Amino acid sequence: MLSGKRILVTSGPTHEPIDPVRYIANRSSGAQGTAIATALRDLGADVVFVTGPAQVPAPVGVTVVRVETALQMLDAVEAALPVDAAVMAAAVADWRVANAAGQKMKKTAQGFPVLEFIENPDILHTLSHHARRPGLVVGFAAETEKVIEHATAKRARKGCDWIVANDVSPATGIMGGQENAVHLITAQGVEDWPRMAKTEVAERLAHRIAQALA
Ligand code: CTP
Repeated sequence: MLSGKRILVTSGPTHEPIDPVRYIANRSSGAQGTAIATALRDLGADVVFVTGPAQVPAPVGVTVVRVETALQMLDAVEAALPVDAAVMAAAVADWRVANAAGQKMKKTAQGFPVLEFIENPDILHTLSHHARRPGLVVGFAAETEKVIEHATAKRARKGCDWIVANDVSPATGIMGGQENAVHLITAQGVEDWPRMAKTEVAERLAHRIAQALA
């Protein structure tokens, strides 16, 4: 169904250094992005898989590009273009440490380190407004409240075609878990998908992408 189509998938968290041995991260396991890359591969797509330091192994049979930081992920995404479609499942860190130290920070009697943050580039927004914008750009929205409202606003703000929205409140067990309950938000409206395995969400999304690219 997807043979001859080149599709970019981002996945996993990013790690933002504090110093050479410490970093800021988030709880993304990379499970959903990995499942999506696998499902697209199984439909015959040529998949470029740009992944942060995930807890699950990368799929075989795809081109794997490993990155650590959001800045590296942006570079890898731009280097992968042109692609027919992109699925941006990575949990990109919104901020990086502006005053990261070049050497390991040591305890001193003077007090504690104060970290200053600077905003990372928005990779999804950049791709959605890129001169070589893929024909289909799919973003994710990780929310903990007002999921549909926030995700619908996010779709407009980021300029992507679809948003896969999910509730990542700890009580849902979704972040780091095996299951996901998502809403697919398109120009046509909102679809509520039942809670299912992340692999099933991936297969369903891959089929929708195949239909859209057909
Ligand atoms: N994203 C990105 N670059 C960033 C931050 C997020 O490309 N610097 C992408 C994610 O890969 C995802 C989408 O944007 O596809 C939404 O991520 P999310 O964390 O839900 O949104 P934020 O942009 O962080 O917005 P907010 O802080 O308002 O929730």
